[in-house]
Amino acid sequence: MRHQIAAANWKMNLTFQQGEKLLNDIFEADISLAPHQKVIFAVPFPYLIMAKSEVEEEKSFAAAAQNCSNKKSGAYTGEVSVEMLHSIGINYCIIGHSERREYFNETNSILAEKVNLCLQYNIIPVFCCGESLAIRESGKQNEFVQLQLRESLFHLDSEKMKKIIIAYEPIWAIGTGKTATTGQAQEMHAHLRSVIGNHYGSEMASFIPILYGGSVKANNAKELFSCADVDGGLVGGASLVASDFIEIIRSLK
Ligand code: 13P
Repeated sequence: MRHQIAAANWKMNLTFQQGEKLLNDIFEADISLAPHQKVIFAVPFPYLIMAKSEVEEEKSFAAAAQNCSNKKSGAYTGEVSVEMLHSIGINYCIIGHSERREYFNETNSILAEKVNLCLQYNIIPVFCCGESLAIRESGKQNEFVQLQLRESLFHLDSEKMKKIIIAYEPIWAIGTGKTATTGQAQEMHAHLRSVIGNHYGSEMASFIPILYGGSVKANNAKELFSCADVDGGLVGGASLVASDFIEIIRSLK
């Protein structure tokens, strides 16, 4: 079975102490994961070492960065390089979240550079794609996400592409409480899989995990994750509440 993943994206929330307590509360729940299931915590940079040591003993749990620089190193004040993440043992990084694209002008080609650097340092990119409400209303969402994949990922050879995790996050569903219906999620995930299949073949298409993100909650996760092509979720708000995120983890296939 494909990997099924519950990924928490804390974004710019929680103090260090609150974050530490949240992780402890989650681990106290004694969650047992099947071998194909994984839980990833994307935490703010200053908490990565703490999160990494908290998850260390927990098999199938990992800490992730929420972003990285597209530059290798040098005079880029305030940036965090992939090499730095690698040097503290981080194995996952969210790339191309819509908030980065929107507020920090990250383009598909900048994201391609980030993906390349991550793979060079054996860090798995959790690559985000997804359309705005205006694009959805114009019916052009399929072409839009296809272009995001093509311009940021499809230069990769098969060996590298195999390492990617994709997260489909329709912007209109992020933080709005307005979740995509299971029909909309399944349709887009199947589309993404066919786009990958057309470029890399069907084996790759059926191998790559595609997570859904956008108002995933404790009470809708099971239904969303039950879709054939939805392999778990990338969760914002509900990942900040231990009991909610535990429920979401337990909703994995
Ligand atoms: P919400 O779950 O708060 O809608 O956020 C989704 C998201 O952006 C995860 O990356």
